[in-house]
Amino acid sequence: MVKKYFIKTFGCQMNVYDSNRMANMLEEMGLKKATGVKDADVVIFNTCHIREKAAEKVFSDLGRVYLIKQERALEGKDTIIGVTGCVVQAEDKQILKRAPYVDFALGPLRYFRLKEVVEEIFNKREAQLLDTEFSAVSKFDYLPENKAEGGCSYLAIQEGCNNFCTYCVVPYTRGVEVSRPVEEILKEARRLVATGSLELNLLGQNVNSYHGEDANGKERNLAYLLNKVAEIDGLKRIRYTTSYPADVDDDLIRCHKELGKLMPYLHLPIQSGSDSVLKKMNRRHTRDDYLRVVEKLKEANPAIGMSSDFIVGFPGETDEDFEKTLDVVNRVKYIQAFSFKYSRRAGTPAAVMENQIEEKVKKERLQVLQDLLFDYQTKFNKASVGKIMPVLFETKGRHKGQLAGRTPYMQNLYAEADNSLLNKIVEVRVTEASTNSLGGEVL
Ligand code: 5AD
Ligand code: SF4
Repeated sequence: MVKKYFIKTFGCQMNVYDSNRMANMLEEMGLKKATGVKDADVVIFNTCHIREKAAEKVFSDLGRVYLIKQERALEGKDTIIGVTGCVVQAEDKQILKRAPYVDFALGPLRYFRLKEVVEEIFNKREAQLLDTEFSAVSKFDYLPENKAEGGCSYLAIQEGCNNFCTYCVVPYTRGVEVSRPVEEILKEARRLVATGSLELNLLGQNVNSYHGEDANGKERNLAYLLNKVAEIDGLKRIRYTTSYPADVDDDLIRCHKELGKLMPYLHLPIQSGSDSVLKKMNRRHTRDDYLRVVEKLKEANPAIGMSSDFIVGFPGETDEDFEKTLDVVNRVKYIQAFSFKYSRRAGTPAAVMENQIEEKVKKERLQVLQDLLFDYQTKFNKASVGKIMPVLFETKGRHKGQLAGRTPYMQNLYAEADNSLLNKIVEVRVTEASTNSLGGEVL
């Protein structure tokens, strides 16, 4: 019988990319995608450690998978349970203590071993395996060739982070910053486009500090790479995420003026609008530095829409600090944003800072911030009504006969459309708008 796999992805886009690469490996072994945990012989949780809630959910969900494993065992079926991603790196040996029924656990830099590990366990040569090495080898050298899953693909170009923001686990879970070589990225990009991608989203934890080597061993920046990627025939849209404000250079800003394929949308997290909080966060920019970058981007492309991440209730954040965050929102008028209550992560400097903020205050601030952010987002969406926008249809919609896609601004748009328009870019007239989505009619 053909064996089946099920991968559940938590967290960021990098994890989505990694999960796709793990699926590639399992399919090379002859496994097929299962419809759910119950009919899967291999279940993998690709996990996120960024906030406590995300990390704890992994363990409660894993417990449920263990029950299914026991039910399957009664039917004589083996189930391999694997955990990958940042929780593995952070928890290390603890993960096998907290979830002893886990068969293997691989850190985010080690999942290239998946094939070998699954084989060892299938053949009962290994009972349980943990690998969290911060390897000197590049996992990308060991991954099988991928192809487009649809019209829009992620492509990891850089991994890890050297910034050490004081609240963040990423430098500890994904390691120091590593950039993939230019030619390797272009090869993958061409392959993804040749197999159906119209849009590429170049990924990195700190993507605009990209400094990969070209074929001659010369270090190149993100702007150079974007120009090269834009030359690929058949590619229609380029995005990159996530950027660090202090690393937005003039070359990159020029891309937003000159590269027609670069979408007019940028996710540029500020985290807080207060200089004193930014300092405690160890961010290498002030609020004015950030606002100047946004101004330059808007000069380069007046149509650009901005997005950001925010943390409220960072240790020591006063009402005045928080007001300054609201002020930044009122200045930039984000078209979309993500906002979080500060979450204390063991091992990070902020976890032991004085003046931790009460949960009640965090909750109140988050509500105020989100009300304001949603207001701008709704206004932007409402202003789209009547416009004609190119939409890349990515999935089926919630209702029959409907497709869901994205506008250049990353807005979700639903329209009645034939399945033949899936993974195509289609002109759509926007007819309605809410905070989270648009409705439209295909022209
Ligand atoms: N608590 C809350 N939010 C966090 N983020 C990162 N670490 C934490 C934390 N400890 C947020 C930041 C980052 C996004 C990916 O997650 O806003 O940009
Ligand atoms: Fe974390 Fe800061 Fe690096 Fe982003 S830039 S991954 S928030 S340490």
